[in-house]
Amino acid sequence: MTKKKIGVLGSGQVAQVLASGFIKHGYEVMVASSDITKLSDWKTKNATGKLGSFEETAMFGEILVLAVKGTSAESIIKSVASGLSGKVVIDATNPIAAVPPTNGVLSYFTTLSESLMERLQALAPQVRFVKAFNSVGNLCMVNPMFAGGKPTMFICGNDRDAKREVATILDQFGWDPEDFGRVESARAIEPLCMLWCIPGMVNNEWNHAFKLLRA
Ligand SMILES: NC(=O)c1ccc[n+]([C@@H]2O[C@H](COP(=O)([O-])OP(=O)(O)OC[C@H]3O[C@@H](n4cnc5c(N)ncnc54)[C@H](OP(=O)(O)O)[C@@H]3O)[C@@H](O)[C@H]2O)c1
Repeated sequence: MTKKKIGVLGSGQVAQVLASGFIKHGYEVMVASSDITKLSDWKTKNATGKLGSFEETAMFGEILVLAVKGTSAESIIKSVASGLSGKVVIDATNPIAAVPPTNGVLSYFTTLSESLMERLQALAPQVRFVKAFNSVGNLCMVNPMFAGGKPTMFICGNDRDAKREVATILDQFGWDPEDFGRVESARAIEPLCMLWCIPGMVNNEWNHAFKLLRA
């Protein structure tokens, strides 16, 4: 079966790591930035990868990855929403506030009663958002190797088929996907990033991931 085209909205570390991961797994990929010169090193290492504006990338992708700064996610989704209609958008963003961490604990601009993905879903109801990849550092996102086995990726979103498609991708990327419900579950999944970051901020330890154990 032909693999769907992937559009990666973003040019930072997450965007670059996931875009390279998709290329490694045989997908056709376009990566977006308002200034594509930021991606010239990535392009040198990923010759088949395409570069484009946010609008071009939204149109190109059959599945999208949203990997932009949390504070800009709403304005970027608003600006490209027409190109995303009906498509799966893997939302890797976190609503990190522009203030320093307190003893290694990040601050969010959202509350426990409203996540960033709910705001995005309300802005673009025709888009099939699935939260994923937000609760692990970019260095561990693609086929990570842990002594304890495959880590768990907690995902959520309103569309079952979209979550199934994302689960298949997560399996290829070396993760055990766990469907934790609808968009409101992002209220719980987004703060996992705060927890994940504490050992990094406090002890400079960044090589870990979550695993769900069942009896
Ligand atoms: N870093 C990680 O390991 C990690 C792990 C999990 C989740 N996340 C989440 O994934 C998202 C991307 O993280 P990242 O570390 O790769 O990159 P980032 O620095 O948070 O975001 C860079 C991207 O955001 C866009 N952007 C829009 N407005 C911006 C502004 N005012 N300042 C800076 N960038 C702006 C940039 O656009 P241009 O290309 O046009 O410059 C660029 O594409 C974030 O929401 C983050 O919380 C990060």
